[in-house]
Amino acid sequence: MRSGVLVFVASVCAAQPRPVLPGEIPPSLRREGWLEAIEQSTAQRLRDGEWDHLIHYALQSRAFTKLPPIEPALSALDFHNSGRIPRDAALRLDAFHASEPKAGRHAVLRRKTGSRAQLSSEYQRAMTFLYRKEWESKKLEGPERRDFVSRLYQTRGHSTDTSPEAAYALEIAMNILRGLRPAQRFERVLLAGPGLDWAPRTGLNEDGPPRSYQAETLRDSFRKRSLAGETSLRIDCVDVNPRVVDALQALGMNAYRMNILTQRLPPATYDLAVVTNVFPYFDDNELGLALSNLTYSLKPDAVLIHNELRPAAEDWGRRLGWPVLHARTHSVQGEPGLFDALVFHAATKR
Ligand SMILES: C[S@@+](CC[C@H](N)C(=O)[O-])C[C@H]1O[C@@H](n2cnc3c(N)ncnc32)[C@H](O)[C@@H]1O
Repeated sequence: MRSGVLVFVASVCAAQPRPVLPGEIPPSLRREGWLEAIEQSTAQRLRDGEWDHLIHYALQSRAFTKLPPIEPALSALDFHNSGRIPRDAALRLDAFHASEPKAGRHAVLRRKTGSRAQLSSEYQRAMTFLYRKEWESKKLEGPERRDFVSRLYQTRGHSTDTSPEAAYALEIAMNILRGLRPAQRFERVLLAGPGLDWAPRTGLNEDGPPRSYQAETLRDSFRKRSLAGETSLRIDCVDVNPRVVDALQALGMNAYRMNILTQRLPPATYDLAVVTNVFPYFDDNELGLALSNLTYSLKPDAVLIHNELRPAAEDWGRRLGWPVLHARTHSVQGEPGLFDALVFHAATKR
């Protein structure tokens, strides 16, 4: 009974992110004023990302107008070629601005909207980025194109986009994990940046509430493979976006607001950490910071899984004592010719 109480207290209190102290950053990564600068740029990128979602919604949603939906990337091309907001997009922005807040996504996004002029300026900002990502990048090939898109991602607004494919990638990851560590139990799991299918750039579907596929399927995936005991598994989700955290908490999940670049969780807490499609938003040094913060809260025999094939991930893993244990690519579900990666890190035995 006594130990049961202790376990309960420990599991409730574990996931409280706290600011990383400059002295905890590996010497090769320390930079004067860096953490404050990252906090500021994260706030700006969160803001931009939320407005990107709003513009994508205004262009695609059928909830407030009968005007046909517009594919944002095509609108970005029109905007670039004509040098002004295309008429079909302007009409949709007018209709969105004139609509009364209804329910669900529409109500939240409509209430966020300020003046009509602000909608135009956010449209122009969002489309300028989208043009560069979807069209300008296509003028390049191979490594040049990859570098161009990588650099764009490292400063773009923070998107919370996620999809069923992200849950499928987790299923593959859990199969591999079972093979790598056949006898190990993973009771405490950290899911960093689970995302929320809120107002995506393509394929907006408003039939149901926004989904967070990875957070929703991780528990089932564990059960199917007996990766943890029936009752002992605890999954903690952390995300820098409060909208994602609120949505997960409303679904009864353990979710906390945390910037994995500037905060860390208690040491040696988790058996497994999973983080996909988050690292592309970080430059190489920030990636080192994220890996340093995440591995700090892992137990010595834990595993960290991500999908970043950039050499910097391998390099920082080695320097932090968490080298790559295994990596592989797989086809993206439903996207012939498209591949994603899975990279597994484990601590060097000391
Ligand atoms: C593109 S979504 C990826 C969602 C999901 N993991 C997937 O693979 O589909 C990136 C998520 O990471 C979160 N994120 C970005 N930077 C972060 C940071 N510094 N700390 C914590 N979460 C972050 C975003 O808010 C968003 O929810």
